[in-house]
Amino acid sequence: MKPVFRPLRTQFAAEVAAIDLMQLYDPDTLAELRAGMDQYGVLVFRDQTFTDAGQLAFAERFDGVLHSKTGISALGRNRLNNEALADISNVDDEGNIRRTDDRRRMYSLANRLWHTDASFQDPAGRYSMLSARVVPPFDADTEFADMKSAWDTLDAATRRQIDGLHVHHSIAYSRQSLGFEFSPEELDNLKGAIHPLVRTNPRTGRRSLYLAAHATRIMEMPVPEGRLLLRDLMDHATQRQFVHAHAWRPGDLVIWDNLATMHRGRPFADGVHRRELRRVTTLDIELSQAAPTA
Ligand code: OGA
Ligand code: MN
Repeated sequence: MKPVFRPLRTQFAAEVAAIDLMQLYDPDTLAELRAGMDQYGVLVFRDQTFTDAGQLAFAERFDGVLHSKTGISALGRNRLNNEALADISNVDDEGNIRRTDDRRRMYSLANRLWHTDASFQDPAGRYSMLSARVVPPFDADTEFADMKSAWDTLDAATRRQIDGLHVHHSIAYSRQSLGFEFSPEELDNLKGAIHPLVRTNPRTGRRSLYLAAHATRIMEMPVPEGRLLLRDLMDHATQRQFVHAHAWRPGDLVIWDNLATMHRGRPFADGVHRRELRRVTTLDIELSQAAPTA
């Protein structure tokens, strides 16, 4: 079955019609979807019926090795008992909505900053697959920004200036920027990683900016100068013309390429309304080197 892509914006984000990903094993169709990821950066699938195990298995089939060293695991285990399955919810172990002063809630508020998943790891996160199980009765969107267009629209002098630079990413930094405090032991587990500021897709040759709220500094520059440049680039990259907002329905699965997009959650009344999603993220390891086929 050939997937049909319906673009949601010009050259960015597409909805894919009528595919049941739980049942999808056909290598050609999986390859077509990967080509769609290279083209659109964000793919939206409606009416999926994922179980947790089914979501994990699909992620491995689609893109190989799973990311399991999440930042929040430094705060303790998650209620799903599998660190490869990120609990993107406002619900605690007992199933109650978290209080506003709950530490894990405060940690998770940083998802409302523009970021990429697992840029603080090496290898970094590649595809994130976020499955909506329970959503509030109003929009609690996730926004995505197109980092290919962000690169393409930079002026030539800036492109020359930044190509070849490296950035240190730390999950602690994005949290600390909101005033969240870690213990010394927690910080010890959150050292971060260094990645290029401009990435090249190995299949298409397309270039993209690689930014995130986790970006602490540019390695080749004095810290304040690098931070100023990172802020300017962030302002440029998150202009409205590069952004697609996804309004969640239960059963949605959205897959995004962390190496070519940024994303952020939008604020909503999270002390009142239940919102439960599950995310699996793969690592940026060549698929041919990643072991399993189903
Ligand atoms: C994520 C994330 C934002 C949201 O799942 O990685 O950043 O809207 N989510 O829940
Ligand atoms: Mn995220």
